Amino acid sequence: MLFARSAHAALCGVLFLFAAAVQAQTAKLPNVTILATGGTIAGTGATSTTTVGYTAATVGVQSLIAAVPEITKVANVTGEQVFQIASENISDAQWLQLAKRVNLLLAQSSVDGIVITHGTDTLEETAYFLNLVVKSRKPVVVVGSMRPSTALSADGPINLYNAVRLAGTPEAAGRGVLVAMNDQIHAARDVTKANTTTADTFRTTELGMIGYIQGGKPFFYRDVTRNHTVDTEFDLAKLDTLPQVDVAYAYANVGDVAVNALVAAGAKGLVHAGVGNGSLPAKTKPALVAARAKGVIVVRASRVGQGIVARNGEANDDQLDFVVADTLSPQKARILLMLALTKTTSTKEIQRMFYTY
Ligand code: DGL
Repeated sequence: MLFARSAHAALCGVLFLFAAAVQAQTAKLPNVTILATGGTIAGTGATSTTTVGYTAATVGVQSLIAAVPEITKVANVTGEQVFQIASENISDAQWLQLAKRVNLLLAQSSVDGIVITHGTDTLEETAYFLNLVVKSRKPVVVVGSMRPSTALSADGPINLYNAVRLAGTPEAAGRGVLVAMNDQIHAARDVTKANTTTADTFRTTELGMIGYIQGGKPFFYRDVTRNHTVDTEFDLAKLDTLPQVDVAYAYANVGDVAVNALVAAGAKGLVHAGVGNGSLPAKTKPALVAARAKGVIVVRASRVGQGIVARNGEANDDQLDFVVADTLSPQKARILLMLALTKTTSTKEIQRMFYTY
């Protein structure tokens, strides 16, 4: 009887010590919330070699987490399915929903970082939008994949593991929203999807990515220079909708149909994706001038992909009262103009914003 009691006491002691050790280990791990939105990382294909022609946005967040048990060794992870879509379909309302959820979570001391799983088609746009409206210095990492979860050498699991590691790393704080794909770390402002299907699609071509993730550990080599997150003037708290801003694409022999149609459809802002240094084709320019006269804000961007669109370069922006996009792609210039229009319609103020963010 005495032996049984002492054995029981010893067992209780061991279990207590084990529980204490687990608790201590867990207490040391960062708390990372995964917000899932869909995309290929949550996609499934008919066979293991189906890398195109699969269905995006079919796997739920708990399954994504369960598929990478290694995650639980490096972070205390919780998952939320914010919505489940192919990202070409993301709406302004879903951007606002996601951003407000991020801000609510990061305001909690119990949350150390956030990972957002997302389709890659508009991943760069969501990342830049969040870069302008998240009000925390804590890491926010946007991640996707180029192969569905069912594919041979699916890139989703390792991308997700790396993203969680990055979101749980204090050194990732204060750098704005980050994109972690293919062992690389990119800043939200300048990264773009540069290939339709390959795993190395996310590139920051000339301005450069900011680091690598190797063996699950982030290594940073440069930082961002433009304002972001807590250092922007945009506040979502009072926003339930975003102004309509559209993009008109330039090409050889383009006319004014698209510009006129977008203005007629109610655009409050127009981004012109010009050829070269943001050049205005002669057949398009009058429509843009007329749009400006109606109070539409016109931003000259370029379809080229790299470089600065020079103010008063290919057009007299001072005289036309246009804004130039600096180095922002047309799709990102649209996002900044949307948010700018929630604050002002002064082209002087909006141009300042394009040189600040
Ligand atoms: N439909 C695309 C999307 O959700 C699939 C591409 C991907 O996620 O990689 O963005």
